[in-house]
Amino acid sequence: MTESHADAIVLFGATGDLAFKKIFPALQAMIKRGHLTVPVIGVAKANRHVADLRDRVRESLTQCGGGVDEAAFARLIELLRFVDGDYREDDVFMRLRRELNGARHPLYYLAIPPSMFRTVVEGLGKSGCAQGARVVVEKPFGRDLASAQALNRALHSVFDESMIFRIDHYLGKESIQNLLYFRFANSFLEPIWNRDYVESVQITMAERFGVSGRGSFYEETGALRDVVQNHLLQVVANLAMEPPISGAGEALRDERIKVFKRMRPLTPHSLLRGQFRGYRHEPGVAPDSQVETFASLQIDLDSWRWAGVPFFIRAGKHLPVTATEVFVTLKRPPQNVFGETLGAPRNYVRFRLGPDRVAVAIGARAKVPGDKMIGDETELFVCHQRGDEMEAYERLIGDAMIGDASLFARQDGVEATWRVVDPILTVPTPIHEYEAGTWGPGESQTLIAPFGGWQSPKEHE
Ligand code: BG6
Repeated sequence: MTESHADAIVLFGATGDLAFKKIFPALQAMIKRGHLTVPVIGVAKANRHVADLRDRVRESLTQCGGGVDEAAFARLIELLRFVDGDYREDDVFMRLRRELNGARHPLYYLAIPPSMFRTVVEGLGKSGCAQGARVVVEKPFGRDLASAQALNRALHSVFDESMIFRIDHYLGKESIQNLLYFRFANSFLEPIWNRDYVESVQITMAERFGVSGRGSFYEETGALRDVVQNHLLQVVANLAMEPPISGAGEALRDERIKVFKRMRPLTPHSLLRGQFRGYRHEPGVAPDSQVETFASLQIDLDSWRWAGVPFFIRAGKHLPVTATEVFVTLKRPPQNVFGETLGAPRNYVRFRLGPDRVAVAIGARAKVPGDKMIGDETELFVCHQRGDEMEAYERLIGDAMIGDASLFARQDGVEATWRVVDPILTVPTPIHEYEAGTWGPGESQTLIAPFGGWQSPKEHE
C-alpha cells in the first residue's frame, strides 16, 4: 500500500439500497482478489447493531453478489464496524472518529440521498474527520445546473476537488473500457470514425423491468436525469472523443469533457418523452405524474469531426429486453458497382455494452456464392466473456482508494452535461404513453426514420 492509499472505508447509507445492491457485493469481490484489507465502517440511522448489519451483508451477497463466498464473507465481517445515528447530530461524527482509530486517509462513500450530502459533508468537516480523506459521491449530481453547482460548493467547502470522486458507474464498466480500447488500440477504425464515413450513431439502453419499487426516487428523476444526463452522455463522449494524450490521469477526462462542451443544448424538438402505462399506479408515483420512463433524443455535436452526424439516444423502462447497445451506421459506398437494390443495408459497427456481454460486431456485405454478383448481410462478431471481470463498482471503489480519478466524473463535465439537458427540463414537453413490453411510443421513430430507424438490440446475442 502506498502512503496515500485509503486506510478505512466509511459507508454512509450502509443499510440503504445502493449498499445492498452494489457496494457490499463489490467489497466481497475486492476481498476475493486481495484488494481490501482495511476496516469498513458502516454508518446509518437504523437503530440496529453490527450484528444486524452482518445479516444484511449476507442477504445482499446472496441476492446481488452472485452468492456468499464464506471465506471472503468472514473476512468482510472481521473488517466491518457500525456507527448507528442521525447524520444531523454531532455525536455520530465523534463516534465515527473513534471508530476510525487514527486512520489518516479514510474514504467516505456517500451512498445516501443527495438531500443529505451537505449535512454529512459539513459534519465531516466540523468533526475533523475530513482531513486527508477522499469522498465518493453518487449520481445524481444535482437535478439541474444550478443545484449541481450548489452541491459542488457544499463539497468544496470541505474537500479539495482532487479529493472528490463522483461515481458514474458506466465509466467503470468493462464494456465502456473496451469501447475506448477498441477505438484507440486499433488502427483501422479511427480513419473512418468521422463525418466522412459515419452517417449516424444510435445508443439504446433498454430495461425490461420497471421502476422496481423506486417510484418516489424516479418521480424526482425520470429517465433524462436518471440515465441520459450522465451514463448515456458519457457513452457519447467515449464514442466521439479525440485520441487522448494518454490512457490515464486527467487526459481521458479532458477529452470527454471537450465532447460535452461541443454538444448543442437540447430543444423540445430534439426530445421525445414517454411513460409506460401503469406507471402512475406504482407506489410513490403521483396519479397525474408527468415524469418520463422513456426518452429518445438527438444530440448534435458542433465539431470538425462530427458536424452533421446525429447521435440518437433512447432509454426506457419496461421495454422488450434488457440490453445496452451502440449502433454506428456507416455511409453507403459512393457507387453502386454491382447494381444492387439501393435499399440494401449499410455497413455498421455495433458495440454491445451490456448487461453481461461485451461484444463488438461489424456488419458488412459479402458475395453470395454463385454466378451473380449479389451479396448478403454478414456480421463479424467478437465477444469477450471471461467471467471474472471486475464489476464497475469494484473497479471504481478500488480506484478511489488509490486516488485515481480518471474514471470519475469531474465537476466541469457534470456542469457541461447539465448545460446540454437543462433547457428541456424546464419546458413542459408532451408525455406519450406506451405499453409495457414495447419499444416505447411510436412517435420515437420520427426523428430517426430518415436514418434507417432504431436498431433494436436482442436480449441474447
Ligand atoms: C442506475 C439507474 O444509475 O443505472 C437505474 O439509477 C438503472 O435506473 C441503472 O437501472 C442501470 O445500470 P446497469 O449497470 O444495470 O446498466
